[in-house]
Amino acid sequence: MDIIKHGLLSWLIFLLWIKGLTDASDVTQPDILWEVQGDNATMTCSHTKGSSYYQMYWYRQLPGETMKLAVFTLANTEHSFEPDFRGDKYSATKPDAHSGTFTVKNLQPADKGLYFCAVSQHSDTVN
Ligand SMILES: *[C@@H]1O[C@H](CO)[C@@H](O)[C@H](O)[C@H]1NC(C)=O
Repeated sequence: MDIIKHGLLSWLIFLLWIKGLTDASDVTQPDILWEVQGDNATMTCSHTKGSSYYQMYWYRQLPGETMKLAVFTLANTEHSFEPDFRGDKYSATKPDAHSGTFTVKNLQPADKGLYFCAVSQHSDTVN
């Protein structure tokens, strides 16, 4: 399991991408993506860990809250959005085993938080 941390400050608005917390060498991300309020922000995640790491999870941690799962994605499968993340505000793509995106639409200050991507070979619970 590799987790990548993203910060989203929606005032300004920018996405700060902190490269992998673990084993970062084979996971790549843009470092910073600037956005403005009202825009849509797309975070990308890709890895070179091999095609067995085909499961991708996106998490969000709002200030003062715990990390929450937003969506679980598999290529060629309908994405499984958690209840707080259903509807038009959020979308995800999973074109292949190696990459995926998570989009937050119509960015607002309340979207400020940390966003994480995780990839896994197994359907194990993520700690
Ligand atoms: C954000 O995405 C929605 C739905 O895909 C689209 O209708 C809208 O025009 C986008 N907004 C911006 C600012 O690009």
